[in-house]
Amino acid sequence: MSTAIRHEKLKAWVKEAAEMCQPDEIIWCDGSKEEYDRLMALMVKNGSATPLKKRPNSFLFRSHPSDVARVEDRTYISTPEKIDAGPTNNWIDPGELKATMKDLYKGCMKGRTMYVIPFSMGPIGSPIAKIGIEITDSPYVVCNMHIMTRVGTKVIDALSVDGEFIPCLHSIGAPLMPGQEDVSWPCAPMEKKYISHFPDENLIWSYGSGYGGNALLGKKCLALRIASAMARREGWMAEHMLILRLTNPQGKQYHIAAAFPSACGKTNLAMLQPTVEGWKCETIGDDIAWMKIGPDGRLYAINPEAGFFGVAPGTSYESNPMAMNTLHENIIFTNCALTDEGDIWWEGMDGAPPAHAIDWKGRDWTPESTEVAAHANARFTAPARQCPCICGDWEKPEGVPIDIFIFGGRRAGVVPLVNEAFNWDHGVFLGATASSETTAANIGSVGNLRRDPFAMKPFCGYNMGDYFQHWLDMGDKLRDKAPRIFYVNWFRKSSQGKFLWPGFGENSRVLKWMCERIDGRAGAVKTAIGLLPDNGSLDTKGLSVPEANMKEILNVDTDAWKAEVESIEKHFSQFGDRLPARMRQQLEELRKRLG
Ligand code: GTP
Ligand code: SPV
Ligand code: MN
Repeated sequence: MSTAIRHEKLKAWVKEAAEMCQPDEIIWCDGSKEEYDRLMALMVKNGSATPLKKRPNSFLFRSHPSDVARVEDRTYISTPEKIDAGPTNNWIDPGELKATMKDLYKGCMKGRTMYVIPFSMGPIGSPIAKIGIEITDSPYVVCNMHIMTRVGTKVIDALSVDGEFIPCLHSIGAPLMPGQEDVSWPCAPMEKKYISHFPDENLIWSYGSGYGGNALLGKKCLALRIASAMARREGWMAEHMLILRLTNPQGKQYHIAAAFPSACGKTNLAMLQPTVEGWKCETIGDDIAWMKIGPDGRLYAINPEAGFFGVAPGTSYESNPMAMNTLHENIIFTNCALTDEGDIWWEGMDGAPPAHAIDWKGRDWTPESTEVAAHANARFTAPARQCPCICGDWEKPEGVPIDIFIFGGRRAGVVPLVNEAFNWDHGVFLGATASSETTAANIGSVGNLRRDPFAMKPFCGYNMGDYFQHWLDMGDKLRDKAPRIFYVNWFRKSSQGKFLWPGFGENSRVLKWMCERIDGRAGAVKTAIGLLPDNGSLDTKGLSVPEANMKEILNVDTDAWKAEVESIEKHFSQFGDRLPARMRQQLEELRKRLG
């Protein structure tokens, strides 16, 4: 294929990378099934992939125990000025970071093959889509990119001789010396891992990890960190949001985009099966939304991805039947447990646990074991088109018009089930102050409460204060066509530590209330923090939540919110003069309303 490449800039970049990384061989990926099958066969042969007897064309991988999730501490936004990366990002001067990484890249692909992956984020030809080229020495990454993005010759054709592309350089950072035996998941130690972004140059350099967002560079690196910086420059939005279409019993459609932090329920909400009668939900995307203002002045969203990289633990026929029914064939599973029948298993799956399994570290496991069988951030990589509730319009090049934005997070206390913003600025304030307990999607402590504005703390490619301003600017452009904004929390717990709200399909009751609010058919009470469902406006027919629990999850505790105000004050203070005055004003108004 390389002989057919007529894009001089692309050829020059690949040549330069090859001279630096010194692979034994270079392969240009064509995106074909043959290519996928050949690489999988290679990985089965060398012992890094296990074919699953119970699921056709599906494979289990076990990562190195140190390489199991994103590494926020090793993720950098490298802008010429530190202030432009802002207080929520790690920063190193671009010259210094490039010098450090060039040293690491030198000879890093020795004994390995360099794969060049042309990929499109978004349907090829969509006015919102972008092209990236990932260079990697991991065949696991190539196969995952085949599922998660649109890969191959058709992308090279779309690029033509001088089209724009985002260069994404990736190495697992584990060269093989002559005679050295390979391991099943090669990677570099933590202190050598770098997930680097140069937003001024639209450039990504990743080194040392083979896992998820660290290595599948189209996802968080390109579609969020680089794209968010491009979006600000160009007047559009790149958000950590699922996209779904809800249809009411009368056939009216509503498009919803929701931002929750990692492992806080996007995939589940995207595949929701409504428990409220007559309502239907279809999935458009489960993690990322790219949005542009259309000719009619409304905001249109596409899902730039082609697959789901979903959290496995907790996924069951009970909680998310649509995900389970997506997973029958053509799936890559990572860090799940392996049953004696040749199937995968994880905590939270339906039915009894297997009497015996091999855990994610490759050891014998029984229900008596003290450790989990599947890693908490075990994942499935699945083609979106296999999802039974994928929307017929999910690849529509122009996207779908968004009616509702939802923000949220995982909060055991204080934050109610649902809350509607008074107006756009107040909605931006809800996004800017979003908070959540940390999860296993990042390597670090789990369950720590932190502010995660717009679920973008780990993914915003520039100063978060400027990002708040960008949201305000978008609202000024959209005016009366702007989506309405809500905030939710599915994760309120009782004093005994039990979830107070059943969640999953029952979340449709909350979405129904939002749609009826838009149509002016549902009532609300004005509280200090926003508009909450008034008596009887939230459909609880057939719901078995005790009255006292409903009261608790819809309660606004003034003292607890006064403490939130202090915490928000502290959160805002880190942005200095990059904090928009309109956000400070929202905080003052909240303080006043709380009395
Ligand atoms: P990323 O892929 O990391 O961005 O995660 P995500 O936001 O897509 O989260 P996902 O839907 O995969 O859910 C993560 C975990 O939260 C899973 O274990 C789910 O079972 C659980 N979860 C999702 N929705 C709900 C809910 O409504 N209630 C409760 N209690 N748990 C939920
Ligand atoms: C997330 O952490 O938000 C994910 C998983 O979606 S990863 O692709 O690893 O970023
Ligand atoms: Mn995510």
